[in-house]
Amino acid sequence: MPSSEPFIENLLAQMTLEEKVGQLNQVNPGPGLHPDMIRQGLLGSVLNASCALAGQSTEELDDVANSNRLQRLAQEARLKIPLLFGRDVIHGYRTVFPIPLGQAAAFDPDMTEAAASVAAREASSEGIKWTFAPMLDIARDPRWGRIAEGNGEDPLLGARLAAAAVRGYQGSDLSQPDRIVACAKHYAGYGAAEGGRDYEAGEISESTLRDVYLPPYESAVRAGVGTLMSAFIDLNGFPATANRHLLTEVLRGEWGFDGFVVSDWESVKELVYHGVAEDDAHAARLALHAGLDMDMVSNAYSSTLAASVRNGQVPVEELDLAVRRVLRVKQRAGLFENPFTDPKRRARDLLRPDARQLARKLARESMVLLKNDGDLLPLKDFRRVLVAGPFVPARGELFGAWTPNGRAEDVTPLEQSLRQTAPKDMELWFTDKNDLALHLAHEVDAIVLLMGEHPVRSGENCNVSDLGLPPGQAEFISTISALGKPVILVIFAGRPLAISQTMAHAQAALYAWHPGIEGGAALAEVLFGLEAPSGRLPVTFPRATGQVPVYYNHKNSGRPIGLNGKFPTRYGDLLTSPLFPFGFGLTYTTFEYTDLHLDADRLRGKLGIRLKVTNTGRRPGREVVQLYTRDLVGSLTRPVRELKDFQALELLPCESRMVDFTLTEEQLAFTRLDGTRGTEPGSFHLWVGPDSQRGLQAAFRL
Ligand code: NOJ
Repeated sequence: MPSSEPFIENLLAQMTLEEKVGQLNQVNPGPGLHPDMIRQGLLGSVLNASCALAGQSTEELDDVANSNRLQRLAQEARLKIPLLFGRDVIHGYRTVFPIPLGQAAAFDPDMTEAAASVAAREASSEGIKWTFAPMLDIARDPRWGRIAEGNGEDPLLGARLAAAAVRGYQGSDLSQPDRIVACAKHYAGYGAAEGGRDYEAGEISESTLRDVYLPPYESAVRAGVGTLMSAFIDLNGFPATANRHLLTEVLRGEWGFDGFVVSDWESVKELVYHGVAEDDAHAARLALHAGLDMDMVSNAYSSTLAASVRNGQVPVEELDLAVRRVLRVKQRAGLFENPFTDPKRRARDLLRPDARQLARKLARESMVLLKNDGDLLPLKDFRRVLVAGPFVPARGELFGAWTPNGRAEDVTPLEQSLRQTAPKDMELWFTDKNDLALHLAHEVDAIVLLMGEHPVRSGENCNVSDLGLPPGQAEFISTISALGKPVILVIFAGRPLAISQTMAHAQAALYAWHPGIEGGAALAEVLFGLEAPSGRLPVTFPRATGQVPVYYNHKNSGRPIGLNGKFPTRYGDLLTSPLFPFGFGLTYTTFEYTDLHLDADRLRGKLGIRLKVTNTGRRPGREVVQLYTRDLVGSLTRPVRELKDFQALELLPCESRMVDFTLTEEQLAFTRLDGTRGTEPGSFHLWVGPDSQRGLQAAFRL
């Protein structure tokens, strides 16, 4: 019994079996939430959502009066244990930031941290003390709609952003009123759902699990994340919700996590459908034993665990362990001292101007310039420009998935933003009607097309089997481009779309993701050149749907492309290379990499790497300098490239800067044939460059 926590031990000693089980019980408002349940101390947490997909609805379940009223009921209970209110605050609250995949494209952990801290301030002002974020699932298959909610395909970028988000939500003191408990989800392997179908089973080898899928979680734990959520997935034949290897051996045993784990929506009960439990009681026993502490809305814990303890099927020590963890997080969150929210805060804390500024900057940084033939962008020197496409009237559509607190009326219409920012002598015409656009296009000098997918096409269970643009859009782009006017394509999306053919019809293309509340203003600033785009792809863009999974850190195979050219791994009808590689993104200037120098040819503990980066264009710009390595021979096969570090630089025209990286032996560690983590001596290649395919190359030994 940890004597360092006398408050918790004292409380635990006074609790009845039912009160203990109550702490592990989370319900959502509705018939399941009866005031007496709270007065009797039978409830640990309230999930402010009306259904599993409530993130897509804007129901107001989160007013301060309501949470304070429920907390008062909790104070009427014998032991006065406060409730913990959770909600899906995924990429902002009222101030909606770009979708997480877009934020990842900024390659800017400081901005991710700042955005999470704004979200914490806003959500906490409405009584929320716990967010179900950050979502840390590595995704290699964009058919899976939840790719929008994560940081893309790379473990290092994912790990950096995980720690940043945790710091942003939680700060250094969770008990501060403007901080909220973070929840790293969905632990683990959820992104590997077969066929990109959400909730589907997946198989991941232990080494890939540890080297690719788990690093963001470990990073969140090291950053002090308060909670984790288990994944819906059946991973390697056993559901994550009751996976003791993941929830106890790795999470607690190896990483030392001492917060609590909540299930995903009804996933304890779903163990029955998975076919590993006979009934709810069996499911609850399996999950609790695995290390799953709180049951999200399935009632399997609340309806069976007390009886299972009484009949000896569940040791009370196992129950106590889970209760202790929940109480610990509540204590860290300062809820025992003050469970109430000051109702005056919301007027002060929602939608502050500095929050909107941050949202605009992050939206700009997230936009990825994919193509810019003849420096068509930034837009200038055109007298009359047509802006067309389904996103012309977009407001709330700019938010993306999971924005239950975003309000369309907070978004400045795109038309207004573009008009405000365009050069004074440029005339802008707008229409979202294809026929009219084709007619007007004859009269203009350039055409901006605002295309892409509606937010309801990505997010939970919004999977697609075809990664092309939504029906009709590619045809429209092709038709209008046939008029021979310069076409600037802007794509809003929650995933990488397969746009090979369409790219040929545009002279410039900007990938804007779902950019959030300030998306219109950010787009205007980028299109008209007040700011330059600097986003980099956090995920590989496939040429066609049939090419997925395609990701940069793949294995070499015994028959790689380029090796004697004999029978390489390939498709008969498609190039093997991606449409755009991980890390790719242009801007309005160009950069040159020279003078790569390693301070030794052997890494002993660490290796210093130095190079020069020069802005060779005529505008200032931000460059994300990326460091990759390849371990040439291993006891297990190794990826052809792995991102090891990155740095962003802002350079003026003609300015050069020396860039230094330090590569440590720990950064070269991986899961070896014998299952242990560590390095193996041998030869390595190293690249420093602007994306995962280009760069200066060097070699060293370990
Ligand atoms: C189900 C989703 O999988 C999860 O991400 C979300 O946090 C919960 N529902 C709560 O809404």
